[in-house]
Amino acid sequence: ARITLRQLLDHAAEHDYGVPAFNINNMEQALAIMEAASSLDAPVIIQASRGARSYANDIMLKHMMDAVTEIYPQIPVCVHLDHGNGPDTCMTAIQAGFTSVMMDGSLKADGKSPADWSYNVGVTKTVTDMAHLGGISVEGELGVLGSLETGMGDKEDGHGAEGKLSHDQLLTNPDEAVKFVRETKVDALAIAMGTSHGAYKFTRKPDGDILAMNVIEEIHRKLPNTHLVMHGSSSVPQDLQEIINANGGKMKPTWGVPVSEIQRGIKHGVRKINIDTDNRMAMTGQIRKVLKDNPEEFDPRKYLKPAMEAMTKLCKQRLQEFNTAGQA
Ligand code: G3H
Ligand code: 13P
Ligand code: ZN
Repeated sequence: ARITLRQLLDHAAEHDYGVPAFNINNMEQALAIMEAASSLDAPVIIQASRGARSYANDIMLKHMMDAVTEIYPQIPVCVHLDHGNGPDTCMTAIQAGFTSVMMDGSLKADGKSPADWSYNVGVTKTVTDMAHLGGISVEGELGVLGSLETGMGDKEDGHGAEGKLSHDQLLTNPDEAVKFVRETKVDALAIAMGTSHGAYKFTRKPDGDILAMNVIEEIHRKLPNTHLVMHGSSSVPQDLQEIINANGGKMKPTWGVPVSEIQRGIKHGVRKINIDTDNRMAMTGQIRKVLKDNPEEFDPRKYLKPAMEAMTKLCKQRLQEFNTAGQA
């Protein structure tokens, strides 16, 4: 059944677990996620970015969402818009059947320039006012994602802030978070504490200097009833880097967010954990491997099936690690 983000995260808060939000762009990813959720009896969040919407077409996405809820009727699924950049994008997502939208007003609509307070509160409140009338949930974001090591936003990944950012911008201010939630009435709040999108988050195993989990703890103390969201939460597992590189890939050495840090977040109000890169890597590793081992092969199913299986395996791991398993 399709449920809203608010319904799902309220249940998660009551029962002390986190819910991974996995990105999809195509049928294989949707089926891989649902197979994982169904085999573990777990609720799940499927999210699509603006890029996914233009890649797959809103109508295709809508029917894919309908299809997975029909195939797996027993699994609660929240269908969420990832990083909406304006009220218009959020509205068309709602029309396309999404039960939850992110209005990311931490950046201006160009997706590059950090926004000021009144812009962010203004666009976010416009969306919550509208979405809540129809029973749709809203995630907002305060603070800009980017690296505390380099001060750079994650523009190299194709989205995110451009150029150098200050620590003030890269770390959500807890007092401002309280004001932001009060003024916008968002159902969930994404915060910045040193993670960024993509595979190249940290040049070393992160410690408190570059992954500020203490900011989450402080925000949770001040906002115990607000569901917190961690973006850029792929762990970028070493073994997936190795499979890719052993089969012709060229990923530079890198670190992601350790699962243990996410588990610490879940103890302090983190309820939604966004993961895309890990699944991209899981699929790409298998596609590379099948094509390298079988250069004569040209049936897409021969590499897409192992790719789906690798994604299902990754999703199952996270559903177990975040205690989502068994909560459906
Ligand atoms: O926001 C980041 C997600 O990984 C989606 O990425 O915008 O390339 O679809 P995308
Ligand atoms: P990753 O790039 O770490 O998977 O983050 C995904 C994300 O935050 C989507 O909004
Ligand atoms: Zn994100």
